[in-house]
Amino acid sequence: MGVLYNQVADQLQGLIVEGVYREGERLPGVRVLSRQLGVSVSTVLQAHQTLEARGYLQARERSGYFVRRPARDVPEPAMPSHRSRPLPVTARDMTLELCADEERRMVPLATAVPHPDYLPVRQIQQSTLWAARRGLETLDYAFPGKASFRRQIAQRMATLGVVITPDDVLATNGAQEAIIIALRAVTEPGDIVAVETPSFPGILQALEVVGLRVIEIPTHPSEGLSLEGLALALEQWPLKACVVVCNHSNPMGARMPDARKRELVSMLAAANVPLIEDDIYGDLNHTGERPRPAKAFDRTDNVIYCSSFSKTLSPGLRLGWMIPGRHMASARQHKYFVNLATSSIPQLAVAHFLEQGGYDRYLRAARQHYRESTERLRSAVARAFPEGTAVSRPQGGFVLWVQLPDGVSGTELYQRARAENINVAPGRMFSTTNKFENCLRLNGGNPWTPVVESAVQRLGMMAHELQESPFKRSPS
Ligand SMILES: Cc1ncc(COP(=O)(O)O)c(C=O)c1O
Repeated sequence: MGVLYNQVADQLQGLIVEGVYREGERLPGVRVLSRQLGVSVSTVLQAHQTLEARGYLQARERSGYFVRRPARDVPEPAMPSHRSRPLPVTARDMTLELCADEERRMVPLATAVPHPDYLPVRQIQQSTLWAARRGLETLDYAFPGKASFRRQIAQRMATLGVVITPDDVLATNGAQEAIIIALRAVTEPGDIVAVETPSFPGILQALEVVGLRVIEIPTHPSEGLSLEGLALALEQWPLKACVVVCNHSNPMGARMPDARKRELVSMLAAANVPLIEDDIYGDLNHTGERPRPAKAFDRTDNVIYCSSFSKTLSPGLRLGWMIPGRHMASARQHKYFVNLATSSIPQLAVAHFLEQGGYDRYLRAARQHYRESTERLRSAVARAFPEGTAVSRPQGGFVLWVQLPDGVSGTELYQRARAENINVAPGRMFSTTNKFENCLRLNGGNPWTPVVESAVQRLGMMAHELQESPFKRSPS
């Protein structure tokens, strides 16, 4: 990555690793470093903040930046094994507890919700007020979506290599509704659908709502869904769809390389199994170019694209969209029969916000926030949790997947943490079997405050305590 402050951060990190600066030592002042390195003061400050996020420096008020013991280099979690068979989905008891209002009073490390500090709140308010004044335009059923919204979506999709017209877009109440509509459009109750494992619980819930059976395909922490696992499943079972989050999956954070996306698309096209792509985190890459969706490699109209503004503009807008391709007629029917249309005001507001051109500027800042906040949480976990813990290293989004040492129960940790007002997501929510009992998902999208810092330390202590009384894994 060519950004100057990152180069300066790498250079200083090298000096710390080599022992030129030792633990507890104060780094030279920013002005001195700026002169020594021939870069601006603000570049040095950004480099310091990056190193703070990586866990190498600690800022002390009015005293400067001090070297701290670098976190252990924790590995990424292992990929789950391939063996799987179709199972009915019963996901309903798992999530509601986490989303209860109570979470607002807890340290919010559970739900994958963007923090308001990182959202363009003022611009959303202004655009919503603008939209509310549109009079008659806001009062009708906006089916299949407001023209201005669908036009903006078509423009953004073109920048990702997906050339469509506004007529190809169906507005939805978030990505969750888009996924349910897509499943209804291509399956019948009882059919078998492949998903990644661990999987975003909402996808499992969508399968349950539609009455489907699931086959869980392992996900690699950086490469995404195992194509080898998918090939086996295609051979063995009559799959009717495959749901994948190719870019910065939740909870693993995997970003599937383009070559594998291309292969995924062509494997499924050859098997005539529709790919339902959930690209909700695609805009939140931490570095480099915004990754392309699998839909960009779709030459046979076999990919149903789903996304929303829940992770970027705010989940409360409840605004998403889908590109159902040849399944448009059926998708429209399912949408219309369930709730007739998506609210007009959020569509007009978001279209207005996108027309103003501030979205990309906002995304640049958000990407940097999430890169720093997830790195900071990762190194705090590495510091606080027992030896044998593994943590994902996402290149986008803001969730971390933590694999606890064998025998440490994520469910037990979740319960103990909840009793102390710290909310985390236990691994068992992310599968229909108990294979992730020793895992947790943490929301790394929070600003780093003393409250969050001490919550992570406390979680680490609880994990150490649980290590003393390991659980016995029951057969899945
Ligand atoms: C991967 C993934 N898909 C879909 C959703 C739901 O999105 P929406 O709020 O747009 O319905 C989430 C929310 O956490 C998610 O993480």
